[in-house]
Amino acid sequence: MSLVIESPLTVNSPVSLTNREDLCLITIDNPPINATSVGVRQGLLNAISEFRRNPKFKAAVIVGAGNTFIAGADIREFGKPMQEPTLPDVIRAIEECEKPIVAALHGSALGGGFELALSCDARVADVKTVVGLPEVSLGIIPGAGGTQLLPRRVGLSRAIRMICGAQRITANDAKALNLIDIVVDGDFLDAAFSFARQMDGKKKRIRDEIVPFEDVSQVQKSIEESLRQGKRRPAVQAAIETIKSAAVLPIDEGLAIERTVFLELRSSHEAYALRHIFFAERDSAKLPKEFFAKPISVETVCVIGAGTMGAGIAISALDAGLHVILLEQDEAALNRGHNRVSSHYLDRVAANKLKPEVADHRLSFLTSTLDWSEIHRADLVIEAVFEALAVKQEVFKKIDQYARKGAVLATNTSYLDIDAIASATSRPQDVLGLHFFSPANVMRLLEVVRGNKTRFEVLATGMALGKRLGKLPVLAGNHFGFIGNRIYNAYRNQCEFMLEDGAWPEDIDIALKEFGMAMGPFSVADLSGLDIAWRMRQTQASNRSPRVRYVDILDRLCEVGRLGRKTNAGYYNYIDGIQQPTSDEIVRSLIEDSSSRRGIKRQVLSSQTIQRRAMLSIVNEAALLMSEGVASRASDVDVVLVHGYGFPRWVGGPVFWARQQNHETLEKEIKILASECGEGFTAANLDVLFDNP
Ligand code: 3HC
Ligand code: NAI
Repeated sequence: MSLVIESPLTVNSPVSLTNREDLCLITIDNPPINATSVGVRQGLLNAISEFRRNPKFKAAVIVGAGNTFIAGADIREFGKPMQEPTLPDVIRAIEECEKPIVAALHGSALGGGFELALSCDARVADVKTVVGLPEVSLGIIPGAGGTQLLPRRVGLSRAIRMICGAQRITANDAKALNLIDIVVDGDFLDAAFSFARQMDGKKKRIRDEIVPFEDVSQVQKSIEESLRQGKRRPAVQAAIETIKSAAVLPIDEGLAIERTVFLELRSSHEAYALRHIFFAERDSAKLPKEFFAKPISVETVCVIGAGTMGAGIAISALDAGLHVILLEQDEAALNRGHNRVSSHYLDRVAANKLKPEVADHRLSFLTSTLDWSEIHRADLVIEAVFEALAVKQEVFKKIDQYARKGAVLATNTSYLDIDAIASATSRPQDVLGLHFFSPANVMRLLEVVRGNKTRFEVLATGMALGKRLGKLPVLAGNHFGFIGNRIYNAYRNQCEFMLEDGAWPEDIDIALKEFGMAMGPFSVADLSGLDIAWRMRQTQASNRSPRVRYVDILDRLCEVGRLGRKTNAGYYNYIDGIQQPTSDEIVRSLIEDSSSRRGIKRQVLSSQTIQRRAMLSIVNEAALLMSEGVASRASDVDVVLVHGYGFPRWVGGPVFWARQQNHETLEKEIKILASECGEGFTAANLDVLFDNP
């Protein structure tokens, strides 16, 4: 039997003290993730002090209440002044305690939570526990001993890879690295008590160990690999330097350096931006209150069209443990689609990334068929056939005929009107858009598009399915291009205006890569194939106002057979698949011709001008679509751009970027840009971005 120790120090605290015979149990109860908020830090100090003081306790076990240990520092506190006691104060108290303390881990032990565990004398973990020091993904480095304790157990090169890669590893992998003492598939707390008793009062501090010797070349290799992979993570270089100090400095000096660097980075602009996107990602996955409803349970999905997208969606659903029916229009297309899915799993097995029995199990959930009546088994149907309204309407008519009553009917259309598609059925209230991004089994973004008549339960089901697939679902309104493609179109148009105004494709691509975009817009266009946009532009030609500034360079490239990478020529030439650094004479003369037809005297555009114009066009479109209700939160726009379009995460997204600028100056600049870009570029009122969460 255990008793709550009624100490005045632990009353009303998120940290409580109970006993189990002569052992002390310290429980942290700070939902949802037991973050080390100031109350927890104070509570832990008090509890440790009580444990030290009370002679009846031989050892202590620290555990998290609910479904996790401590998943890290409370990053909501990071924007505010540091409050004492700090986490290093708690860690020092654990290390200086004369009696052993064991960390009993389950759920996540991340960041400060894992650092606290490493400062204990032993770690016992439930088999499903995940541990790691992911701080660099938040633009900081571990700030409570992680950079000094981890290398003492795993060596410098492994510590560099783990910290710089923000790796989260399983309990068994951590045990193999000597970071965890015992892994338990069962009562981990009981096992932690037994382990604490067996320690027989002895301390075993990692801080007293030395960093194991390693060949310099091995460490160097790890540094180079981490710098290469972490080139988009601002804190990587600082993390490397700090970890290296563990091998050459006494631990207290290393800890002091770590703390200084941590505090500097904690208030850096990048860390602020990364925290913004962290919370924006979590918010975007929640439906706004006015749409709250219970999702319908989904265990079987039917994917219609097994092309690029359909196959990727099928893989994503199989990976999430769903049953998948893959439906095609003819035998040959069905075989191609089925092979796409099965060879994905074979490749993963061959690359040692998946056990053969897991691959077999996943594939056993797949039915490939030409029989439309199979749709009846599906809780949710996703259409991914050719992007043509008539084709989609025909397919939805058939879906309507075969799908069971109440099933959710989704389209993966990129641009088409969801309501027009839904109107082909007798149940438009069950229809929504689920806009996956390519490759659908890799990209995390999912736009959940609300049609005019979509039921809230159907929307909630789309969001819940997204989460189950491990995606980031974002609610979008049914307007041309939804959120992402609409903003990207405005951005690409602006880049095309800049071609006409005086820049070459490479000037624009280089400037925007310098800004942090994963790729420049013209390299992206070549990669996706210029003909996709060309076809779309042709369908819009009859509705285009002659007063709208329209740049036809892309159309003219297509007319001369330059469709991008697939024809080894587009905005750039490709030799053996390698993009040439500059555009060639043919492209340049097409661009010059376009400038002269519009009467433009070409001028050199600086990188700064290019970046600014591109950002203004993105921000302006974001404000326009917010005011039309296409996005429900301004921060959703940031999630979409970061996850779907290679926008730099450490800039926080375009809305976050705009909020760092002077509101009035931005509006003025946008008005000037609008007057230069002519009709088709409407200057927005930006209040909607500044006033919205
Ligand atoms: N601080 C504050 N709130 C946090 C948080 C944190 N570190 N981590 C998660 N939360 C909040 C989320 O915002 C969310 O709140 P909401 O319900 O109001 O939206 C709630 O906790 C649950 O989070 P998730 O929706 O992400 O829940 P999951 O179950 O999917 O994932 C998790 C749980 C694996 C713990 C995931 O939240 C996560 O990875 N968190 C971040 C972990 C991390 O980066 N830790 C390091 C922090 S920095 C640090 O420790 C510095 C140290 O070195 C001093
Ligand atoms: P795709 O051309 O690779 O595949 C389409 C598949 O649909 C083909 O296998 C075809 O046989 C099948 N199909 C056509 N008509 C059919 C019918 N009546 N019944 C059953 N199957 C039929 O096309 P892709 O790229 O996979 O695109 C599919 C949809 O996804 C389109 O709406 C597209 O706009 C959208 N999309 C595409 C993205 C991309 O990057 N490729 C990204 C996001 C959405």
